[in-house]
Amino acid sequence: MPSNNGFEMDIANWASRYALDIIGLAGFGKDFGAIRNQCNPLVETYNTIFKVTKQKRALFFLGALFPWSMVRSLPLPHNRDFSQATKAIRQNCQAIIQYKRAMSNDTCAQDIDLLSIAMKNGRFSDEDLINQVMTFLGAGHETTASILTWAVYALALHPEIQQQLREEIRKKLAPIDSGSEHSFDVISRLPLLYAVCNEVFRMFPPVRITMREAVCDIFVQDIAIPRGTKIMISSCATNMDKKLWGPDAADFNPYRWLIKDDEEGLKINSGGGAISNYAMLTFSQGHRICIGQGFARAEFACMLAGWIGRFDFQMKDKESMDMNGVKFASGITVKPENGLRVSVKVVPGY
Ligand code: HEM
Repeated sequence: MPSNNGFEMDIANWASRYALDIIGLAGFGKDFGAIRNQCNPLVETYNTIFKVTKQKRALFFLGALFPWSMVRSLPLPHNRDFSQATKAIRQNCQAIIQYKRAMSNDTCAQDIDLLSIAMKNGRFSDEDLINQVMTFLGAGHETTASILTWAVYALALHPEIQQQLREEIRKKLAPIDSGSEHSFDVISRLPLLYAVCNEVFRMFPPVRITMREAVCDIFVQDIAIPRGTKIMISSCATNMDKKLWGPDAADFNPYRWLIKDDEEGLKINSGGGAISNYAMLTFSQGHRICIGQGFARAEFACMLAGWIGRFDFQMKDKESMDMNGVKFASGITVKPENGLRVSVKVVPGY
């Protein structure tokens, strides 16, 4: 157990394990036990898939130029490890599906994880089920781990906002181990929590680049884009564009998401003061917008409330104090290259 003198931890590692356990329960109805045991084989398999290496980065950019099937078939250690890890996770999914099928209907009737719901629907083959669950696991694990890591970073840099957020959480939510349950309806009505989450989503979008290919000749703002052109869309450039967000676009300012109200104190400003509804690309926009957005927002708010309510986070490594000192590791998501070492203290009284 932590003492009140504080202890040092790599938040990126814990956020990854925390997010894996949540998506395991929500996706499969299975506790992967990653928080309890980081030597868990499934956690190691996941780490293989999401570990950012130079080779992986090079393959990512090759994938922008050549078909993925070709890039994936190159005889490289990363491709070999990736395909072994994916195979292991597929086998795990298969075993869980078989277990759920073997259980009586009564036993699974109350299960509300994605896999159980899809199985109850009855229209999916086992292969479809595995593919769907693999997609949700892939899309919904490292993204959440990344955003939680950056939230701790931002709040460690802004201790006064961290303290105000802690006060709001403690005032409005009972402690996690009090036994009372919190619905998201209650959690979503904490203005500062909402504001901090949105500001972290704006400034630290885990998926920094998405790709699109023009399916026909088209003009975008008078620029001719011929059919077949591959376009990279940068969420962080748009999310911090001064033309859209104003002169303080590069500053961490959760208060842009709040309005002072004489009766209610602080009220939510859902647009964050941006001049366009398309100014935030963290979850993309349009037809292929993230379908896990609602889940991810709820999950992130709950995770952050749990951590900030109980713990105080201070930056350990002074060189990482400002954004220019942070080395980014970009894979599918963006994380600090060498993890995020912070000093953590239990704040008594909650
Ligand atoms: C912080 C959390 C998350 C962020 C920032 C995020 C971001 C994104 C982005 C930018 C895309 C579009 C990718 C593209 O078009 O190239 C996307 C797609 C997707 N996301 Fe998320 N995501 C998050 C969490 C989740 C979660 C928790 C789930 C599932 C439980 C999920 C499931 C998906 C799926 C299935 C797609 C593909 C949708 C489609 O192509 O129609 N995401 N996400």
